[in-house]
Amino acid sequence: MSLLSIKNFSVHIDDKEILHDLNIDVQPDTLTVLMGKNGTGKSTLAYALMGHPSYQVREGEAIFEGASIAGVSPDKIAKMGMFLGFQHPIEVPGVTVIKFLQTATRALSGGELDYDAFQEELLSILEKLGIDQSFLYRYLNDGFSGGEKKRLEILQLLMLKPKLAILDEPDSGLDVDAMKVVAEGINMARKKGTTILLITHYKRLLNYLNPDRVVVLANGTLARDGGMELADKIESEGYDFLASRIS
Ligand SMILES: Nc1ncnc2c1ncn2[C@@H]1O[C@H](COP(=O)(O)OP(=O)(O)O)[C@@H](O)[C@H]1O
Ligand SMILES: [Mg+2]
Repeated sequence: MSLLSIKNFSVHIDDKEILHDLNIDVQPDTLTVLMGKNGTGKSTLAYALMGHPSYQVREGEAIFEGASIAGVSPDKIAKMGMFLGFQHPIEVPGVTVIKFLQTATRALSGGELDYDAFQEELLSILEKLGIDQSFLYRYLNDGFSGGEKKRLEILQLLMLKPKLAILDEPDSGLDVDAMKVVAEGINMARKKGTTILLITHYKRLLNYLNPDRVVVLANGTLARDGGMELADKIESEGYDFLASRIS
């Protein structure tokens, strides 16, 4: 059974159709890469799946682990095991990283938090990702560099251990060293059993990963479905080849 099944998905923002008749199945324990030009609807898909109220699913539905998530609120979708790593994480002055991680972990586990186990896991992940402990006592994304914001998304991914993680351009704006940290985090998450839907429009990050499948969106719908050869083609030719033929 697919972990996530996106069926005939059409999504509107206000009265504008952004996604049209989109069909994608994501199999458990895989890494699926979603590519596409800027403005083609990748982030829209991520937000619509997570139940963002501004993104209206007008037709079709998404099925997560066999259950429809139509009309389900973001907090409940998160509790079902879906996670979104934001393309543009928001700043929350006043809430420290550690407080946020504790609160989210507690919420997802139904109110319980084993502080010792939490602390031990957190410190081991920080070490593996090369993040200084002082990071934990800063306010969420407040004054963070682009690289620090993306590291925090990866830290959340590893602490929250979702069944499915949608990672929206975790590589945007990163230098090579920061990108390696992000790639290592994604590989660690896979070992913990997280299935990944990775949104990117560059091949760079994929060189450190081992994607099972690459799908390409154009004009709000699926334009190509294949493997790494699609990422190679996009890197060498850009997205223009999509206009030639729909397969
Ligand atoms: N909150 C929003 N309000 C109005 N238009 C939006 C909003 N979010 C996205 N759009 C529009 O939807 C289209 C797809 O955007 P997006 O999903 O961000 O694309 P991508 O992530 O592939 O770059 C764009 O034309 C964008 O301007
Ligand atoms: Mg986007």
